[in-house]
Amino acid sequence: MISCRHLTKRYGAATAVEDLSFDVRSGVVTAFLGPNGAGKSTTLRLMLELDHGEGVTTFDGTRFRDLPDPIRTVGAVLETRAWHPGRSAHDHLRMLAVGGGVPQPRVDEVLALVGLADVAHRRPKGFSLGMAQRLSLAVALLGDPKVIVLDEPENGLDPQGIHWLRTFLRDLAAQGRTVLVSSHQLAGIETLADDVVVLGRGRVLAQGPLTAFVAGVGADRLEDAYLQVTAESMEYAGGADHA
Ligand SMILES: Nc1ncnc2c1ncn2[C@@H]1O[C@H](COP(=O)(O)OP(=O)(O)O)[C@@H](O)[C@H]1O
Ligand SMILES: [Mg+2]
Repeated sequence: MISCRHLTKRYGAATAVEDLSFDVRSGVVTAFLGPNGAGKSTTLRLMLELDHGEGVTTFDGTRFRDLPDPIRTVGAVLETRAWHPGRSAHDHLRMLAVGGGVPQPRVDEVLALVGLADVAHRRPKGFSLGMAQRLSLAVALLGDPKVIVLDEPENGLDPQGIHWLRTFLRDLAAQGRTVLVSSHQLAGIETLADDVVVLGRGRVLAQGPLTAFVAGVGADRLEDAYLQVTAESMEYAGGADHA
């Protein structure tokens, strides 16, 4: 389980996220939802201590920095295009495997898992966004981690790719893993996620089982519930802006 407590991040005078506390259960997929600029990526960076801020995040009770074997505990990819231009997908994974003490056969295993076996020796520079997303997923899975954190993994995927990814993520959760996936899109999230954490303007607006969230605000569908709580967060912040 992931537990975030009092996460706050400021950029100068601007507050990106403020006093966020939420839990992410294992064995289910949790959708981390919020409009663009709500603070999803900032939160994920804070959770993985890739960025300085206030608050504490623990993975089964341990902070990321204190994990004895981080690559085998938490698989996370927050940047889809952070590839060395001259290196093939296979080489990229091989180097990460060496760095993380992951046995080499796992590289071919994860490439096959994400459907990139045929292009493993091509450079990711020429990959479509969908292929880059699959490679990101391969990176996240390298250490066979118990926790998987992905920032907007559906971006750039076609409907077949989205269907494939959702089935894949649900299988990971069914194996008992913790799966946290951010998205600013709502279409089909009901078929992906059991739980939601909804962010608006750097605040947690809702968290818990998706069905309880929808029913709790008197809505019939996720989209209605989401539009309702995010609109309220804008009113509280002094009126909606259209930036
Ligand atoms: N490096 C940065 N410097 C200044 N402001 C930033 C930086 N990164 C993010 N922000 C601001 O923090 C807020 C949250 O951004 P972000 O976490 O990227 O949101 P999301 O991922 O939900 O779209 C936004 O207002 C954004 O402009
Ligand atoms: Mg983002």
